[in-house]
Amino acid sequence: MTGNPVNIFDFEKLAQQKLDSAAFDYYAGGAADEVSVRDNRAAFDRIRLRPRVLVDVQARDLSTTLLGQNLAFPLVIAPLALAGMAHMEGDVGIAKAAAERGIPYTLSTFATSSIEEIASAVESALWQQLYIYNDRGITRQLVARAEAAGFQALVVTVDTPLGGLRERDIRNRFRLPPGLRLKNLNDFQLDQVGEKQDDSAIAAYATTQLDASLSWKDIEWLRSISSLPVLLKGILHPADAQLALNHGASGIIVSNHGGRQLDTTLATIDALPEIAAVVDGQLPILLDGGIRRGTDIVKAIALGAAAVLVGRPVLWGLAVNGAAGVGQVLDMLRNEFDTALALCGCPSVAAITSDLIFK
Ligand code: FNR
Repeated sequence: MTGNPVNIFDFEKLAQQKLDSAAFDYYAGGAADEVSVRDNRAAFDRIRLRPRVLVDVQARDLSTTLLGQNLAFPLVIAPLALAGMAHMEGDVGIAKAAAERGIPYTLSTFATSSIEEIASAVESALWQQLYIYNDRGITRQLVARAEAAGFQALVVTVDTPLGGLRERDIRNRFRLPPGLRLKNLNDFQLDQVGEKQDDSAIAAYATTQLDASLSWKDIEWLRSISSLPVLLKGILHPADAQLALNHGASGIIVSNHGGRQLDTTLATIDALPEIAAVVDGQLPILLDGGIRRGTDIVKAIALGAAAVLVGRPVLWGLAVNGAAGVGQVLDMLRNEFDTALALCGCPSVAAITSDLIFK
């Protein structure tokens, strides 16, 4: 790939040229045969839009509100482990690019920057992703630190009782490069569990440290120790959406972890309509997995999402040009979304309705 990137796929190619191959594989890869990675995208491509015409779209309002927060357009940065491998600006670079554009940023538990570093770098909306550790004291501390630092929401990842089987990482015997640490965790580092095992260090880490007994009562526990809204990330089944409602979640993120946990799940956009029917407007629904085009955002909203999260494209931007590269990626998605709105005959996000989807 040479020349200026015109779309997110160009950014991916440029990032691949820049990154060490094990780092690229960790970012790009998924579980097992990577069927879900591909299908998240293919499912968006299968959906056809049925636009309206002769609507005045001269002035367009891309903004929306979510959990009482204003978003410049309906996009949130997904939690991403080990972003520091892509560029020295790492998580702080991503958070800055998001803040400059009015987009919430979600910090991963497995980030290579700390909660406090992020909070002192930006003033905009910050969400904290949580993996729940066997040692609940670790989780409790993370929550207290996020609250003290002014984070505005907790995102509990519920699809990771253990690490998915990511074969690229196993083949590469993936390890965190020297000099990088999981900055939010003092005592628990990847090399403490990974070095001796013929495995991916991150998978071994997740499998030994995270609580595979996690259940709905723990969501109530989390709600009892924090006043922040709790979103559940990794819901694919409508029955779990109903349970999320019953257990007081503030939002649901329809996600298959970018195809990195269970392979051959249904694509997230295919899971959305049934979940939206169960939730029936009682909670905001977000969705991630395969968002690469402005039209993907329109499709997700038309099928019931309030907003989407984006993962890998952010890492591609970061790898190519640090915070400035992330900014370019976000601007691309924003411009494509704006164009798609205009061409669908929608002057605002609220004007996106389900009849835009051809059935
Ligand atoms: C992730 N994802 C993720 N999710 C999470 O809850 N906690 C985490 O620490 C991570 N880390 C992580 C690292 C990398 C390299 C990737 C690619 C993904 C999943 C992420 O938040 C999101 O669900 C998917 O990335 C969305 O799919 P796309 O946009 O990457 O296709």
